[in-house]
Amino acid sequence: MAYLEWQEKLNTGIDVIDGQHQRIVSYINQLHEACHMKGDNTTKVADTIMELVDYTISHFAFEESLLQEAGYSKINEHGKKHIEFSNKIFDYKNRSAKGEDVAQSLLDLLHDWLFGHILDEDALYVPTVSRYFVRNRRS
Ligand SMILES: [Fe+2]
Repeated sequence: MAYLEWQEKLNTGIDVIDGQHQRIVSYINQLHEACHMKGDNTTKVADTIMELVDYTISHFAFEESLLQEAGYSKINEHGKKHIEFSNKIFDYKNRSAKGEDVAQSLLDLLHDWLFGHILDEDALYVPTVSRYFVRNRRS
């Protein structure tokens, strides 16, 4: 069983966002697997942390540009949540690059944060972005 299981309630109905969220979950699961690999897993763990953090931060940038295009009124508050979290995970990435073993602590952080963010914060922009896609015939 995967470390984090995708759940139906996490779907926003915006395909591009759901795809990116699922990819983050898949990176988290890859990191968990890398942590439990037999033998020397140091490089695999460090590489996965780098990919996971980079992808998550680029997802935030994508999401914010979409919110901007769609005219979401609470974009600044949403962006602030992303910045706070990006700073935290960027710090993990740097510590990992210096050889520190941060994997389990990063997994705990992501485990506690991601689903809460999708359900509590991302859910708030869904009506605005869905209307935007309908107006522009995109999805
Ligand atoms: Fe978000």
